[in-house]
Amino acid sequence: MRASIAVLGGDGIGPEVVAEAVRVLEAIGQRSGHDFSLQAAPFGGIAIDQFGTGLPDQTRELCLAADAVLLGAIGGPSWGPAAPVRPEPALLELRRLLGVYANLRPIQVHPALRDASVIKPEVLEGVDLLFVRELTGGIYFGRKTRDADSATDECRYSVTEIERITRVAGRLAMTRRRQIVQIDKSNVLATSKLWREVSERVIHAEFPDVQIEHMFVDAAAMHLIRRPRDFDVLLTENLFGDILTDEAAMLSSSLGLLPSASLGDGRRGLYEPIHGSAPDIAGQGIANPIGTILSAALLLRHSLGLEAEAQRIEAAVAAAISSGARTADLANGTGATLGTRQMGDAVLAEL
Ligand code: IPM
Ligand code: MG
Repeated sequence: MRASIAVLGGDGIGPEVVAEAVRVLEAIGQRSGHDFSLQAAPFGGIAIDQFGTGLPDQTRELCLAADAVLLGAIGGPSWGPAAPVRPEPALLELRRLLGVYANLRPIQVHPALRDASVIKPEVLEGVDLLFVRELTGGIYFGRKTRDADSATDECRYSVTEIERITRVAGRLAMTRRRQIVQIDKSNVLATSKLWREVSERVIHAEFPDVQIEHMFVDAAAMHLIRRPRDFDVLLTENLFGDILTDEAAMLSSSLGLLPSASLGDGRRGLYEPIHGSAPDIAGQGIANPIGTILSAALLLRHSLGLEAEAQRIEAAVAAAISSGARTADLANGTGATLGTRQMGDAVLAEL
């Protein structure tokens, strides 16, 4: 098959980890006879420095024309809170532009890494979570105001926004344990009350085989650590999903391992690791590329329909970890640690 993939390295460790995912995609393309046209474009802080905007027109056009977008990470100290133009709004704009309202963040624990987690290994056995985070609404996109002595962020959700993300969760739950926990703060927030009502209605009416349960976000934060294997699909709004997925990433032992897929109504998607640009280790070649490599696998699965190829990448990553490949974030003090490129090599060797 032919497919065009826009590649946005971004800032910090972004370009380093994306380079490894690109090598994996190229290898899969060659091996399986697919013609992937990979085109890079500036995005984030680096684009601000060059073009005065985090999402330049040429990048926008490239992403809109592509079948999928692979992104590293954005942000860094040179574009901090005091900077006149910041990179984060460009990411929100890109998500909005591509209409990717459903952010999937799968979290599993590789058996060989149970000991590397800060959580007790016995708690981690059998953990297999799928976060479905709403990505283009809520407090991230509400009206913001600021005056001398106050500031506001509006959080707004429409029935339609909640219905469509609930359907995504429902469809995915059907392929898993058919169990959704919807997470909110409906004891306090009006938007959360709407989430509870709408998600309950959609699941009952359209997915009668799926169970839906509701949980307050503070309790969910606790139960995720206390009894993570009881969860299957976790459905939540933009801000809570951002926070809970960083927390849940600790189950897998490192934020560096985790991929994400952001999808809309069509096939086009945006794929990025859930970690940030890690400016403290940028340029050293030590970042873990696995989150981005697994994001490339999700890209093949969700945007290109290449399930077998996606599984091949996932199996190669699992095999590399099983045979002891560890970047610094996964190191347990024994054995040599691999750099970004070497971890890429380890995955390629398994492929
Ligand atoms: C994420 C990131 C982004 C978010 C930031 C960089 C705007 O934390 O993808 O989780 O909050 O969505
Ligand atoms: Mg985040």
